[in-house]
Amino acid sequence: MKVFTKRHEIEAFLNEQRSQGMEIGFVPTMGALHEGHLSLIAYALQQTDISVCSIFVNPTQFNDKADLERYPRMPEKDLAMLAEAGCQVVFLPEVEEIYPEPDSRRFSFGLLDEVLEGARRPGHFNGVAQVVSIFFDIVKPDRAFFGSKDYQQVMVIKELVRQLQLDIEIVSCPILREADGLAMSSRNMLLTGAERKAATLIPDVLAMSRQMKVKGASIRVIRQSVMNILAKDPLYKLDYFEICDGETLKAMDTWDDAAKPVALIACFVGKIRLIDNLVY
Ligand code: PAF
Repeated sequence: MKVFTKRHEIEAFLNEQRSQGMEIGFVPTMGALHEGHLSLIAYALQQTDISVCSIFVNPTQFNDKADLERYPRMPEKDLAMLAEAGCQVVFLPEVEEIYPEPDSRRFSFGLLDEVLEGARRPGHFNGVAQVVSIFFDIVKPDRAFFGSKDYQQVMVIKELVRQLQLDIEIVSCPILREADGLAMSSRNMLLTGAERKAATLIPDVLAMSRQMKVKGASIRVIRQSVMNILAKDPLYKLDYFEICDGETLKAMDTWDDAAKPVALIACFVGKIRLIDNLVY
C-alpha cells in the first residue's frame, strides 16, 4: 500500500496509473475507520483497478469547533485497517496541503443545503463541497464511493459533480449496521456505555416508522410517535425526524410512493450527534 502526504506526489503516481489504462476508485474519509468504510473500499476494489482512500479531517465542514476537536483521529490504526482491506493508495495530507490558502468558494445547492443537515449545520455542505472538489481534482477518480448513511451528503455531491461537469460516477453504498442495528459511524466510539446502549433506539424508531407506514399511519402521526418515544429518554435530544421526497428532500405531508419517501433522523445521544435514515 502506498501512502502519500503530498499532493504533487499522489498526482504524479495516479497520472502514471491512468496512462496505463487503470480505472481509479476513490473513497474519501475523515479517518477513524470502521467496517462501513472498509465496505466502501471493497466496492472500490470490485469496481475499479486502483482504490484510493483519503484520510483528512476537513476543518471547513465543521461549524462547531468542539466537534472538530473531539473528532477521533487514529491514523496508525486506519492505515493498518486499509492495508488489511487491500487498499492500494492512501492520501493523508496536512491541512496546509489541501488549503494552502483559505478556500473562499461558495457553492449553491438550493433546497439540498437549506433543509435537515444544511439548516442545522450552516456552511457544512459548503465545506464538504470544497474538500471533495479539491480531492476530485487531485485524484481524478472514475468512480467515488460514499456511504448512504449520509443521504443528504450523497445528494449534495451528485449535484456538485453535475454543476462542475465532472466525469465521475458517484456510487451510493448501503448503510452498514452493528448487530443491534445502530448505523456504523466514527462518532459511535465517542458514546459512553450507557449512550451506546441507548443509541439503538435510533434504528428502532426508524423501523417502527416503516411498520406504521405499512399499517396505514399518516406522516403526521408517525412523526408525533417518534418524537414522543425519544422525548421519554433523558439521554436523547431529537434534532429532526422528517419524511422527505427521496429525490428532492422536500418534506412530505402526505404519502406519495412515487416520491421514494425516506425518513431522516438526527439526534443527540448525550453530547454526540448521530444521523441515520431509512428508505421506505
Ligand atoms: O463523509 C465524510 O466522512 C466527509 O464528509 C467527507 C466526504 C470525507 C468529506 O470530508
